Order: sequence, then structure tokens, then C-alpha cells
Amino acid sequence: MQISRNISLQPYNTFGIEALAENFAVIETIEDIATISKLTKQYQQWHLLGGGSNILFTDNLSGLTLYNQVKGIFIVQEDETTVLIKAFAGEKWNDLVQFCLQHNFAGVENLSLIPGSVGAAPIQNIGAYGVELKDVLEYVEAYHLDKHETEIFSNKACRFGYRDSIFKQQYKNRLLIVAITLRLNKIPKLVIGYGSLQQQLEKMGIVKPTIQQVAEAVNIIRTNKLPDPAKIGNAGSFFKNPTISKFRLHVLSEQYADIPGFALDEMNFKISAAWLIEQAGWKGKREGNVGCNPLQPLVIVNYGGATGKEIYNFSEAIIQSVKQKFGIELEREVNIW
Ligand code: EPU
Repeated sequence: MQISRNISLQPYNTFGIEALAENFAVIETIEDIATISKLTKQYQQWHLLGGGSNILFTDNLSGLTLYNQVKGIFIVQEDETTVLIKAFAGEKWNDLVQFCLQHNFAGVENLSLIPGSVGAAPIQNIGAYGVELKDVLEYVEAYHLDKHETEIFSNKACRFGYRDSIFKQQYKNRLLIVAITLRLNKIPKLVIGYGSLQQQLEKMGIVKPTIQQVAEAVNIIRTNKLPDPAKIGNAGSFFKNPTISKFRLHVLSEQYADIPGFALDEMNFKISAAWLIEQAGWKGKREGNVGCNPLQPLVIVNYGGATGKEIYNFSEAIIQSVKQKFGIELEREVNIW
């Protein structure tokens, strides 16, 4: 593996932020992973870069930055109703979705068009329109950068939560995701109850959709609401939707009758961060080269030339103003580096 010095990371992050990697290596083959142990011993600090679609660089990266490009998608095992698909971490998530759609393997159609790599998907437990990765994931193969061995994490061992996993917590930056294996269905079990998805399918005049039609509907919703990172820098939702208690929601709804709350269980509700941000007056607001997206205020955009620190400060101002107005502290979904 070749190490390059002072590499610009601008092409490697969807925010389009200019930052330098002091040392940068591309992992291209499985054999490269075996040589990583020698490399990581040389550097005190390392960073693992996937698709760069959920990262905000606020500084240059010292130490070693590893960019995983190991590719491959295979059918591991199948019977009449289910199939196990293995995909290596360097694949683009949406290419894996396309593969599944082409083969009529159901389960990831709602996750169509999510930017980023396959390797990043379990870290974030990516989710959209009523489906999360945890619903289809069988296991994750990961390489311990300190112990220098590969471990298989079952779905349960991944400790998935809302945009959360063990890889984001105790194993943060200590594991290189090598591959994931999904269990998909040959007989689709569609999840089409999410409000905007239902409305889009109705608009398309589709009553009994195929998985390809579900993906098409998702693609339309996403492209209408979410800015294309190839045109305007962004990292999708910048904040998580906060969870509050039923009691707190009741108190807030006395003042804000239309506050949208989605029941998680009997006692807890998920509140729309987009709504909170919009109510706090940020929707469409722009400061210099940074802005709050006018169509989906959960997305912060780089109109061009913004620094990571400017975007971070902008997000901090949103957090403070939402906190002041509603007493709810928004949590960033994007990783800050
Ligand atoms: N809303 C507003 N104003 C707006 C937009 C939305 O008030 O301008 C409110 C509405 O009440 C709406 C609710 O927000 O019903 C939910 O909106 P949307 O369906 O767009 O979902 P979201 O909460 O904004 C989440 C995920 C997205 C995912 C969509 C669809 C998080 C942090 N974000 O967004 O994921 O695509 O649901 O499932 O959970 C991502 O993680 O990067 C991402 C884009």
C-alpha cells in the first residue's frame, strides 16, 4: 500500500470541505488489510474514511487516513425464500441497492439513493422511510486495528440504535469494517406506511408496488427534498430527531398545537428536528457560504467555499436557538472530525 502525503480531502467528503490528510493510503484489496497492522503501528492516530457523506472536517487530519475501496458483491447462500448477500465495505451503498433491485431481492428498496459506502452503513445504522439497516443485516466482518484480527459481529452484537451502533461507540475508529452480509427476501415484505412514501405511491397511481417501484418513489422524494451533494455540498440530515417523553410533548403541545410527535413506545416520542429548526426561524437562512436548506431544514449546506468551522458554528447557533425556544437540545448526526 502506498502512502501519499498532504492529500486534499475535498473530493472525499460530500460537504466539499477543504482539509488535508497528513498521510493517506487507499486499501484496494483484502490482502492490503493484512498489511495494515504494520502501518497502524507506525502512526499514533488513524482515521477511517468511507464515502465521506456523513462527515464534517473542521481541521486537517494528522496521523494516517485509510480510505477503504475494497469492492465486491456476492450471493453467499440462498433458498426458496431468502438470500444472503455479502458486500465489501468499499462498494457504494446505492450500488448494492441496485444489485438487489436487479435480482429482485427485497429489503433495501426503502434505503435507495442513500449516499455513502457499504462500510459506513452499519456504523450509522442508516435508515429511511421506515426501514433501517438493522432490519436486514445478518452480520458484519470487521478488522481490529489494535488487536490485528478479524471479528464477526452478529446483528445483536452490533448493538444497533437510531443512527447508532457499537462501531460508533466503544469501537469508534478502532475497527475497519471489511464487509457486511444482508439477509434479503425473495418474496417481498413491503414497508410502505411512511407518510411521504405512501403519498408518493398514490401520486404515481400505484396500489400494489414492486420493490423497484418503491425504490423509484423513494428516489423521487429524496431528489425533491435533499440537495444533490454533487451540486451543493451537504451531508444529509445534520441532526438527529430528538426523543422526548410523553409528558414533555404534552406540555409543549399546549403552546405549540401542531408539534409533530411520532410514538416510539408508550412513554417516548420522536420529535421532528426539521420542524423545530423551521419554527426557530432557520429554514432557508444563509450566513455567508453556509445555509439551512430551504426544502429540508434538517440539512445544512455549503454553498461553496465554506470551512468546516463555519459550518460547525452555524450548526451550534441552530442548536442554541432551538434549545432556547423549546428546551430541547439537538444532537448532531454528522460526525465531526
Ligand atoms: N418537517 C417540517 N418541515 C420541513 C420538513 C419536514 O416540519 O421543512 C417535519 C414534518 O413534520 C415531517 C417530518 O419533519 O413529517 C419528517 O420529515 P422527513 O420525512 O423528511 O424526515 P426527517 O425526519 O426530516 C428522517 C431521516 C432521513 C430520512 C427521512 C425519511 C433523520 C435524522 N433523518 O428525516 O435520513 O431520509 O427521515 O425516513 O432521522 C439522513 O440520515 O441523513 C437522512 C436523510
